[in-house]
Amino acid sequence: MVTPAPTTNPSRPKMQGNPYVPMPATVKEVIQETPVIKTIRVVLDDENARTNFHFEPGQVGQVSVFGVGEATFVIASPPTETNYLQFSVMRAGEVTSAIHKLNVGDKVGVRAPLGNFFPYTSWQGKNVFFIGGGIGMAPIRTILLHLLAHKQDYGTISLLYGTRTPNDMSYKYELEDWLNREDLNCNLCIDTAAPNWPHRVGLIPNVLKELAPSPKNTVAVLCGPPIMIRFTIQALQELGFAPEAIVTTLERRMKCGLGICGRCNIGGSYVCVDGPVYTLKQLQSLPNEL
Ligand SMILES: Cc1cc2nc3c(=O)[nH]c(=O)nc-3n(C[C@H](O)[C@H](O)[C@H](O)COP(=O)(O)OP(=O)(O)OC[C@H]3O[C@@H](n4cnc5c(N)ncnc54)[C@H](O)[C@@H]3O)c2cc1C
Ligand code: FES
Repeated sequence: MVTPAPTTNPSRPKMQGNPYVPMPATVKEVIQETPVIKTIRVVLDDENARTNFHFEPGQVGQVSVFGVGEATFVIASPPTETNYLQFSVMRAGEVTSAIHKLNVGDKVGVRAPLGNFFPYTSWQGKNVFFIGGGIGMAPIRTILLHLLAHKQDYGTISLLYGTRTPNDMSYKYELEDWLNREDLNCNLCIDTAAPNWPHRVGLIPNVLKELAPSPKNTVAVLCGPPIMIRFTIQALQELGFAPEAIVTTLERRMKCGLGICGRCNIGGSYVCVDGPVYTLKQLQSLPNEL
């Protein structure tokens, strides 16, 4: 059967130049977030490419380590950050291990921006409840910071960020600020109790039910490992959230990132072009991925 061609939204930012050719970039900063997650901040080498680079929160990039390969990561910095592009990378296999060995000054390749983005303009006037699990906090960070920069357009902005242990929390250097912000209702949780942990304890779906956000005029946006997504969606539905008010991102192995190679499709939807951001309502019309 021929898979239908992917649908593209012409208004989304796209990669400049030949989308198959990575743009050379230099690592400007490396942050060890957790034992298995590192953040790299990179700057595109070409001034023209830098000036013309625009992306929307939720879009991804293919980052290549020369001689090793290429892998997909969400751009974890907000679009308002113009000094660098940030990728938070969990060590999984060959490419991610090579990224973890990079030092300041090393060269990488970047093909970006790719994919769709969070439909945040449709959330204006609504409350937004973000839920990030583990490395799933990377896409949440970019959209959370973007909304906080445009706070006046939204209702209450809340975050529930959960990891297995306190040591597994990324962005520790920002969490204190997030907890103290008056324009953010920030909740942190870990799976099981740990010494000196002053925040919540429990699995994300259970803590979510304790917090019990009202679904009224509220959008829930969640990212994390598949098992967390599955049970958190169930919890959101129990709380009364409608499928069109639940937004998540899908992770499928990608190669071209351009809707050409057919590596990433789910039924007729190409995650690299139609996604990675979907509402639960959209996912319900595709073969079951959750
Ligand atoms: C849209 C999208 C956004 C992503 N954003 C991030 C991000 O911000 N940060 C981050 O750390 N990771 C992210 N990932 C996952 C990341 O792309 C993979 O971890 C990476 O490709 C692994 O490459 P590798 O060469 O190190 O692993 P490999 O050597 O290729 O594989 C190692 C192991 O990881 C598994 N694996 C590889 N790719 C995937 C995948 N896409 N989904 C599930 N399992 C996989 C393999 O099955 C294998 O078990 C994202 C993936 C997608 C599709
Ligand atoms: S078609 Fe999606 S990665 Fe190639």
